[in-house]
Amino acid sequence: MIKSNPFTPQSGWEPRVFGGREEAISLFGSNLESAVSIRPNHLVILGEWGIGKTSLLKQFKRISQSKGNPACFCAISKFTKRDRPLEAVYLIAEEMLMGFPGADIDSEGLLKLFSRHKSLSQAQTQFTRFLLELWRKLDAKLAIVLLDDLQNLLPISNTIDILRAVLSKEEIVRNTRFLFVLSSTPSSWSMFIDKHDPVGRFFRKRLVVENLTNEEVKTTVEKTLKDTGVVFDADIKEKIYNYTGGHPYEVQLLSSHLYDSQIEGMVDASAWDAALLNTLKELGKDYFTSLLAKASDRERDLLKILAEEKKPLSITDFRNMMIVGRRARKFPIANIKNFLYRLEEKGIIARNISGNFDIPDRMFREFILKFS
Ligand SMILES: Nc1ncnc2c1ncn2[C@@H]1O[C@H](COP(=O)(O)OP(=O)(O)OP(=O)(O)O)[C@@H](O)[C@H]1O
Ligand SMILES: [Mg+2]
Repeated sequence: MIKSNPFTPQSGWEPRVFGGREEAISLFGSNLESAVSIRPNHLVILGEWGIGKTSLLKQFKRISQSKGNPACFCAISKFTKRDRPLEAVYLIAEEMLMGFPGADIDSEGLLKLFSRHKSLSQAQTQFTRFLLELWRKLDAKLAIVLLDDLQNLLPISNTIDILRAVLSKEEIVRNTRFLFVLSSTPSSWSMFIDKHDPVGRFFRKRLVVENLTNEEVKTTVEKTLKDTGVVFDADIKEKIYNYTGGHPYEVQLLSSHLYDSQIEGMVDASAWDAALLNTLKELGKDYFTSLLAKASDRERDLLKILAEEKKPLSITDFRNMMIVGRRARKFPIANIKNFLYRLEEKGIIARNISGNFDIPDRMFREFILKFS
């Protein structure tokens, strides 16, 4: 009997088998210890779309609780310029109250510490009082607050500065033991730092979430398939890594399509093309189409060349290709440099250490070849 699909191709769905991340987990473990014995060293988790930030925070939550430290997970929703930091701080407070359930916590009373029409400096004093009061009720040695998707606060970015100001206050440091773990996309985080200088110096401990290794992908896929009645052959497992580069969301999505094409429990080369195509279509809807839409027609021409060549190229490589060979055509050669820089600025292509231009995500490359 074949079991239902065990893969979790959805943002925020925790994987059935959590792969890799050993270093991150051990770093968090030592952070927990020093937070109790010395003082909390708040942590920032950085990573691009679908790389596993939410899943890692949820793993941290479990680890904290298993060590007897209450932990709460707060997903930050999207804010706009018209919102005020006090509203964001209020949301965090509300989520903390829900996430730290305790019989004797008077949530309503605690939320009354906030009065919604007050000014910025009061957001700071109100949140300070809230943390002090909550701490008194918690009866714990350490409490962990996981704030996911901080990039959603970018339109009211001074919220993060309020958080910094509150957490660095003497009375908070002396009287409470909250350890905050924040997650954000790298570009938003650097904007927070640029705009609010002390933020970067306060939240100094960063952890960058990266793709899983080949070994980690294989183990994760195998363990996820265990007892399902479905087996992927060795070539398929190798290809999953070759195409996704270990990007967790892409691994889950591709594996999920492969799983659905099993015949008598076996998934082999015959399943590949259709599964890849369906994966690319979905990645298109999720992300790639909007990324591609940021490129102008001319930029898209260069993008196609980069995808076809399947290797990093320098500006000279591009220029030469436009002068001789099968790609020679009327193209404003002098502008190639500008187009490439613009593509890089928009986050569509990247540059490797030797300064050559590249599309690091192979799935995006395949998408360009098939759909643009
Ligand atoms: N360590 C892991 N091992 C296996 N799969 C993982 C792991 N981490 C995340 N995933 C899978 O990858 C996908 C993305 O995970 P998650 O939502 O945690 O990423 P994210 O960085 O928070 O993404 P988003 O940009 O959507 O917020 C999900 O399908 C999840 O099941
Ligand atoms: Mg997430």
